[in-house]
Amino acid sequence: MKTTNSSNIFLIILLIIPIICVATNLINQTCQNSSNIDPNIPFKFCVYALQSSPASSCANITRLGLNSITLIKHNVTDTRCLIKRLLDDKQDMKPMLEDCLDLYSDSISTLREVALDYRAKKFMVVNVKVSPIMEASSSCEQGFEDVGVTSPLIVQNNRIFQLCAIALSIIKTIQ
Ligand SMILES: *[C@@H]1O[C@H](CO)[C@@H](O)[C@H](O)[C@H]1NC(C)=O
Ligand SMILES: *[C@@H]1O[C@H](CO)[C@@H](O)[C@H](O)[C@H]1NC(C)=O
Ligand SMILES: *[C@@H]1O[C@H](CO)[C@@H](O)[C@H](O)[C@H]1NC(C)=O
Ligand SMILES: *[C@@H]1O[C@H](CO)[C@@H](O)[C@H](O)[C@H]1NC(C)=O
Repeated sequence: MKTTNSSNIFLIILLIIPIICVATNLINQTCQNSSNIDPNIPFKFCVYALQSSPASSCANITRLGLNSITLIKHNVTDTRCLIKRLLDDKQDMKPMLEDCLDLYSDSISTLREVALDYRAKKFMVVNVKVSPIMEASSSCEQGFEDVGVTSPLIVQNNRIFQLCAIALSIIKTIQ
């Protein structure tokens, strides 16, 4: 009985290992390529980000690109919510926070279109629309830097910037 159980488990492990590796390989390769092309993309962050989407281990490259756009959308939505909360209790940062809110509100409307464009395989259009979102994240960050204030959004802005860089590099390989 015991032997049967452990050999069953052994068999299952043998079957699962290649499945995991094939999937990790596509994410690894994609991220290796991305960080080679664009030094703004840290390999580890890219792997972490792409793996965080549901069913990422079964995703092909087209799906990984769409997942990266979804990640941008969710992160921008979250960041807008954070900015609104900060506006309530950080009066001294009001002008900068309002700029960031404007920038990311525009990005949200763009991102709704981007997902549709991507599904319609209009990759050139996606490319053109993701770039301003990337710029929004650095403009937001720059606003704080300009007045010498420590940005309360540095983590969020960096993440959005890097997610955009990942999306753009995936689009470059499939378009
Ligand atoms: C993918 O990258 C991770 C992190 O560097 C590494 O641990 C893993 O072995 C790699 N997998 C493959 C299949 O190359
Ligand atoms: C990585 O780049 C190589 C060389 O440009 C290319 O042949 C390969 O398809 C790319 N792989 C992925 C997963 O993007
Ligand atoms: C933001 O992106 C990260 C990957 O960088 C991801 O792990 C996280 O789930 C995203 N946030 C949301 C709210 O989706
Ligand atoms: C990639 O996966 C999607 C489903 O996630 C599928 O619709 C599409 O046909 C696949 N593309 C390729 C090139 O296999």
